[in-house]
Amino acid sequence: MNISQLIEKAFEAREAAYIPYSGFAVGAALLTADGKIYTGCNIESSSYSPTNCAERTAFFKAVSEGERNFAAIAIVGGLKEKKKGETQLCPPCGVCRQVMMEFCDTSFMVILAVSPDEYNIYTLEELLPLGFGPNNLKK
Ligand code: THU
Repeated sequence: MNISQLIEKAFEAREAAYIPYSGFAVGAALLTADGKIYTGCNIESSSYSPTNCAERTAFFKAVSEGERNFAAIAIVGGLKEKKKGETQLCPPCGVCRQVMMEFCDTSFMVILAVSPDEYNIYTLEELLPLGFGPNNLKK
């Protein structure tokens, strides 16, 4: 599984986005340390706050299947009518960054993509400097 293939999976996942309110479709593809992929899309709610981002959908699917070790996530997003190559980079929200902090090392790779060959890679450390995580609660 290479980076371009992971991004393709994120674009496929984006197709299922449930976005009647924002019209903004996001897809994510989460790669485990042993090479499995869990995908997610954003799922909105008429009462707004229960909305789940694509990244958290992917994490919660994986964690609920027993996965605990993650290598990377690819994220793509933009208005529904924008296709592959037309979207902007879609950085994860603060809540999703915090969920990454729960399950990932600071070297976890966050791939923000516009197309399978146009992307930037960030570490979790770069996106959430001085983040609070499980280590802070160690006795
Ligand atoms: N959203 C995501 O799914 N991931 C992000 O990284 C940013 C925002 C969703 C939430 C909401 O459904 C829509 O995009 C607009 O905020």
